[in-house]
Amino acid sequence: MSEPETAAPRHLMSRYEWRWIVIALAGLAVFLAMSIGFTMSHPGRLPMTPQVDPVRKILSGPMFSHPGVTRLGPHHYRAVVIARQFSFDPASIKVPAGARVDFYLTSADVVHGFELPDSAVNVELFPGYVAHVSATFRKPGRFLTACNQYCGIGHQAMLGRFEVLSKAAWRKSLTAAAAPAAPAMSGVMAAIGPARIADGKAIFAVSCAGCHQATGQGMPGAFPPLAGTLGEYNGPAGRAVLAHVLLFGMNGPLNAGGKSYNGVMPAWAAQLGDRKIAHVLDYIETAWGNAKALPPSFKPFTAAGIAHDRVPALTPAAVAAEHARLPAR
Ligand code: CUA
Repeated sequence: MSEPETAAPRHLMSRYEWRWIVIALAGLAVFLAMSIGFTMSHPGRLPMTPQVDPVRKILSGPMFSHPGVTRLGPHHYRAVVIARQFSFDPASIKVPAGARVDFYLTSADVVHGFELPDSAVNVELFPGYVAHVSATFRKPGRFLTACNQYCGIGHQAMLGRFEVLSKAAWRKSLTAAAAPAAPAMSGVMAAIGPARIADGKAIFAVSCAGCHQATGQGMPGAFPPLAGTLGEYNGPAGRAVLAHVLLFGMNGPLNAGGKSYNGVMPAWAAQLGDRKIAHVLDYIETAWGNAKALPPSFKPFTAAGIAHDRVPALTPAAVAAEHARLPAR
């Protein structure tokens, strides 16, 4: 007698179970599709919308417009650091041993991390927010600081230097910084003019230094160095290819200075425009000692020249092919 009673509920249970399994799987599929779709449409970015106005406000404020270490009083210093994909500004921080250091940190784009070994300094940096932490470093030493929040394709190379100097070494570093030798301007740089180079440098800092670094050293495996590697562009064909790389972007593997790189150079044609592209090209052609490699016949880039190189438009793959055909120098 009991058998028909138990058979019906067992049958019902499995139907309900199946229904919920299907609903759960469908939910999973939707979330998976959403995250894949987001990743494809935002390559190399964290799923985060930068809060443009607060970030700009913070970065242009009195504190973050001059990142670096400042003396506040006897044995008291302030270190202001900006994190951005994929570097710290300044890249190197030096403080004297035994002094209290107040860190003020922020991010210019996505969430980054800042951690100093052997200390309580370990903070997450959010765009639009300022993190504050104080520490005293007793022992002199050299450390590497690494970003410890995944922030995009260059995350693993996001490193900075942190140095605690003995009192004697600190005093020596101050006198060395007080008397910087003014470099003489070479003929090429004089022909371009300091105003254009300064403008190009400012554009580079905002648009290019995140990947190629303020030092022009690039990042191993992803972004090639620009310091000392632009010789291949010095022929007549190379000049147009260089303009094309900035205008239309480039992707795929490439060689620079005997090492291989595989990153993505975005197209800047729309964002920068002809004049800014000309100025940033003049800057990279002359920065980091590159001016020495330029032929005496070098002429500064012009907005008209870039406008000419814009037509016809190329794909990033076509630019890569064009780049691969350049004779190596
Ligand atoms: Cu910045 Cu990871």
